Amino acid sequence: MKLNIKGGAAKRVLEELFDAIVDLEMERELPAIPEKILFYARKMVGASAGSLYLLEDGTLKLKVCQNDEVDVHSVIDASNMKGSELSLDHTSIAGYSVVSGEAVHVPDVTRIAADLPYKFNSEIDKNSGFISKSILAVPIRHPSEGVIGTLELFNPAHGVFENWNIGVLKSFSVLAAVTMVNIRLYDSIRDSYLETVFRLGIVAEFKDDNTYGHLQRIRHTSKIIARHLGCSEKEQDSIFHASSMHDIGKIGIPDSVLNKKDELNDDEWAIMRKHPEMGAKVLENTKSEILQASEQIARYHHEKWNGKGYPEGLVGEQIPQFARIVAVADVFDALVQSRAYKSAWKVQKALDFIQGQRGEHFDPEAVDAFFKGIEEILEVQKKFGELHY
Ligand SMILES: [Fe+2]
Repeated sequence: MKLNIKGGAAKRVLEELFDAIVDLEMERELPAIPEKILFYARKMVGASAGSLYLLEDGTLKLKVCQNDEVDVHSVIDASNMKGSELSLDHTSIAGYSVVSGEAVHVPDVTRIAADLPYKFNSEIDKNSGFISKSILAVPIRHPSEGVIGTLELFNPAHGVFENWNIGVLKSFSVLAAVTMVNIRLYDSIRDSYLETVFRLGIVAEFKDDNTYGHLQRIRHTSKIIARHLGCSEKEQDSIFHASSMHDIGKIGIPDSVLNKKDELNDDEWAIMRKHPEMGAKVLENTKSEILQASEQIARYHHEKWNGKGYPEGLVGEQIPQFARIVAVADVFDALVQSRAYKSAWKVQKALDFIQGQRGEHFDPEAVDAFFKGIEEILEVQKKFGELHY
């Protein structure tokens, strides 16, 4: 594409384009992307204000507004325009650019020819005191999905937009579209993957008379404990998803042992105690960070701080921290919720037990974090189960 930009401007635009590429490439949070796209688009052509609309459910939804001259956000909030929609037709400048697939340049909004299908909507100007003079709307076009929205820019520093502005913004809009579509796709694949992890955990629980509620309680409680231990957001997110698989190894335990109503004999206990290693076998040699965390939790969630747990009899900090956290969450849940073979303990009795096992069964710091988050943990128990006081 020939852009016909003069030397100084070309250098500046190229630098801004490179900044935009690096910044957008590093951004992984979808909500932050439209704000950045509009920022760089305005910077490249020196526009003092702009809006970004995306095509959703057959209408154009306003996602971002930026304005260097007036506080446009308070006006938009006050007039309830945030998230406002434009019809997908030729009547607005933004709508016309999307429907026609062409950039629309209006050098002077007070002189739009009467025979043109679009009109200038002056509502924001009236409410904000901003005076729109020149407008350029450029469709955001994805190479395979077509037009997914539009960038509407106002009032360039030199009074009117120049021809090269259109070429630069058309190219930039492709980068913007690809970035947004890729992140949407990434988010959707990640959501599907994490949901599959959770549902695989449910498969194992079905065998053991637990279901959805048990896993919800375990993962929320583990995350609360992790937060009170000072784990990072990423680690909290990781334990939330990974803990769903803690008992995946129960898939390999015969129903006659798993669902036995009476006390298990020694041989049956020996079989039952194999579920951590069986679970780890299912999950080992994975490249997925979540499943690596799941493997650790599955393998070590029955270890005890004092070294009397299984399968390896690890002591203290030899036990991975995620497994130490899930151990507290799992035992508390088993105590306060009823099972086919036992009735639920009252909350205070269960809390006394957890405290009593501080430094014995459980990591002392994990127990302290459990009690710091106890109000939230009891809310989780109530939401996804029943509590007895
Ligand atoms: Fe277990």
